[in-house]
Amino acid sequence: MDLENKVALVTGAGVRLGQAVALKLGQLGMRLVIHYHHSEKGAKQTIQNLPGKESRHLLLQADLKDISAIIELVKQAEEQLGPVSVLVNNAAEFFPTPLFSATEEEWDHILTLNLKAPFFLSQAVGEGMKSRGEGKIINMVDVSTDRPWTSFLPYCSSKAGLVSLTKGLARALSPEVQVNGIAPGTVLAPPDHADLDLTTSVENSLLKRIGKAEDIVQAVEYLLQSDFVTGTILPVDGGRSVY
Ligand SMILES: NC(=O)c1ccc[n+]([C@@H]2O[C@H](COP(=O)([O-])OP(=O)(O)OC[C@H]3O[C@@H](n4cnc5c(N)ncnc54)[C@H](OP(=O)(O)O)[C@@H]3O)[C@@H](O)[C@H]2O)c1
Repeated sequence: MDLENKVALVTGAGVRLGQAVALKLGQLGMRLVIHYHHSEKGAKQTIQNLPGKESRHLLLQADLKDISAIIELVKQAEEQLGPVSVLVNNAAEFFPTPLFSATEEEWDHILTLNLKAPFFLSQAVGEGMKSRGEGKIINMVDVSTDRPWTSFLPYCSSKAGLVSLTKGLARALSPEVQVNGIAPGTVLAPPDHADLDLTTSVENSLLKRIGKAEDIVQAVEYLLQSDFVTGTILPVDGGRSVY
């Protein structure tokens, strides 16, 4: 698929990996819908750092736990910039939920944002992609899906569900649309991550380091430029999944 001037929607594009991915798609000539929830300042910085005039791109706020907000987000994106050709489901929540203290509210929060939202976003853009004969969806999953972390079971379950959703969407939207996932290992530590946990991430990998945003960005670029890969999950984890 030729990416030049096509529209890409990146969720959670005001910070960290989402911001890095959005900047790369801009460098590839795409027009960006920069979605954010609370990070308005970061999202504005993303737009300012994209190549070309700011009017080529669009800033949209939405709480993706609200399905009506997802429908409105895609409506606004397509009315203002045109049909979405690339969707990167990046936004997610990651926080500890130990088995014996996790609440129903925490479960619903994580599963809704990390799994339900990508489903309804894909539904909202997928039909148009299929009828236009092209489109790509990339879902950010996680290295933890095969060996879930015991203190993060709702998160790991949401990402395991997203792996299944990725494969199912690839089937449902074929042959026009390619749907793939990227499974990062530890790439950017959460700001409040304990040193001990990070040490464990490094030790439990083959390459003995955490990754960089650029490692994920390169994987996104590959999946967008390949027209013969669909329904797969690409681990970008320094070998953590096979350690
Ligand atoms: N970083 C890593 O090492 C790593 C490892 C494995 C997998 N991943 C996956 O890669 C992706 C990006 O990771 P990251 O570390 O860059 O994420 P992050 O820093 O935790 O950012 C989370 C993003 O989700 C958005 N978000 C949170 N709640 C939302 C809501 N209710 N509605 C809409 N958006 C919401 C945030 O938007 P606002 O800031 O605008 O509120 C933010 O952009 C995630 O899917 C994550 O699970 C990351």
